[in-house]
Amino acid sequence: MSRRHLIIAASTWLALGFAGLAHGQRLPRDATGARPEAVPATHDALHHLSSARQEDPFAKVFLVTSRRLYEGGVKTHARPLAQRRDSLGNDLVIAEARAWQLPEISHGIHERERRCGGFFAFASRAEAEAFLSNEQSAKAMRTKAAADYGIDNAATVAPWLPLVQEANIRGTIQHLSTAWPNRYYASTHGNSAALWIRDTWLALGNGRPDVSAELFTACGNCGGQPSVILTVRGNELPNEIVVVGGHLDSISNSGNGNAMNAPGADDDASGIATITEIVRIALASGWKPRRTVKFMGYAAEEVGLRGSNAIAQSFRSQGLQVVGVLQLDMTNNGAGGQYAMRLMTDNSSPVLQNFVTRLFDTYLAPLGLTRGTDTCGYACSDHASWTAAGFPAAMMAEPTFFNRLHTTTDTLAYMGNSAVVSTNFAKLGLAFVGELGKTHTLLRRNGSQPLPTPLAATPSASPAAAPSTRTTVRPAVNSTPARSGARTRAQDPTRARHVP
Ligand code: BES
Ligand code: ZN
Repeated sequence: MSRRHLIIAASTWLALGFAGLAHGQRLPRDATGARPEAVPATHDALHHLSSARQEDPFAKVFLVTSRRLYEGGVKTHARPLAQRRDSLGNDLVIAEARAWQLPEISHGIHERERRCGGFFAFASRAEAEAFLSNEQSAKAMRTKAAADYGIDNAATVAPWLPLVQEANIRGTIQHLSTAWPNRYYASTHGNSAALWIRDTWLALGNGRPDVSAELFTACGNCGGQPSVILTVRGNELPNEIVVVGGHLDSISNSGNGNAMNAPGADDDASGIATITEIVRIALASGWKPRRTVKFMGYAAEEVGLRGSNAIAQSFRSQGLQVVGVLQLDMTNNGAGGQYAMRLMTDNSSPVLQNFVTRLFDTYLAPLGLTRGTDTCGYACSDHASWTAAGFPAAMMAEPTFFNRLHTTTDTLAYMGNSAVVSTNFAKLGLAFVGELGKTHTLLRRNGSQPLPTPLAATPSASPAAAPSTRTTVRPAVNSTPARSGARTRAQDPTRARHVP
């Protein structure tokens, strides 16, 4: 589109207050089917949208999606630029849209197909092309032994499982979905919510020197929203990294920018709340992993997996060794259903799918729980970023598709005001970190002297060391690190955590 056309389109957009747009765009509906009121077509409205951390609604966005999803609906909103294939031979399309169209693109697929449909988003075509030329899904699929994936750490995992508290997860979902009108990536709320998650996770470290939190800000198209990374430094194999993540942003079809009404209780406050409970239990027990374990809240997932893609590409270019990634996105819908959860079988590593399945069968099946499978679609959630960067990733999701996602009614009330479904995911996540992170045991040489903990003498060798693009927050080292067998009141995993 020429500059002149852009100006005409912009004034049309203003004059109609978002309605009657190019490509036959309509205002998105809310969950009741009613069209929300148009944003007032005033200069103030535009100024509001473009100020602070708001996005430019007319900014070009370059999408990488599958040919199937493109034909299935993306093409209504975006114009094709090129056909490509990924390293697995899948047919892909690079297409161009405008920022304001993104919520409608994914929402349309949800409404039509009752399933997700995704894309990677970039600020320029060159970045989209570069992403595809470095695409490493085939490597992620082939990887046989980034680790041994053995299940032999029940001594750590089994005592954790009964400690999962539904009320804690419910409290965190409730807080995340009500304390701010949204967690939209291009909003001030999306920023404050990220800081709250960082502070909450770090507090669970209770001052341990091997636990640190950082804001990952090296994402050029995350609108200023940081991803959050909590790192528990490995005591024996610190360079081998285990990741459990979910996305911290939300989106909806109602309202724009800071005024968007996007509670995102299931999508994905549930995943963040589940991770919060995993962190609480694992750290309160005094657990010290052999490998480095990183808990991640990704920025800007809802607009094209931007935060996770920036992190995964950064890890790849630094040559970091990620041995497994578990994605928790939408963990709270479907109580009373046939299954406790569904393994997503596409865009993820067969070896890791197998590992997660064995974890379920070892730790959750004995509780009377059953599992199913499904497919998520191309680029439907952050595990796809790790797969594209060549790392083994898998995703477990709730048993039933929640068709209120990306609406004003993605609230706890529509999930029975309960987090019971998520409790199973917390157990699976605990099994994942306990069995892939393992548990540090002081090895003894000749049965006498304990070997030194490798990182104790060389903290700068930690993969958690902060490059200049990240902000790392360490707790003041005035509290005693957790030691097993010596629990303080704050470390008592049986004590319910207060959630605001
Ligand atoms: N949480 C969804 C993905 C999802 C949907 C997982 C249903 C499990 C069940 C995610 O936040 C999402 O909305 N993804 C978009 C694509 C994204 C790149 C904009 C989607 O699937 O449409
Ligand atoms: Zn979503």
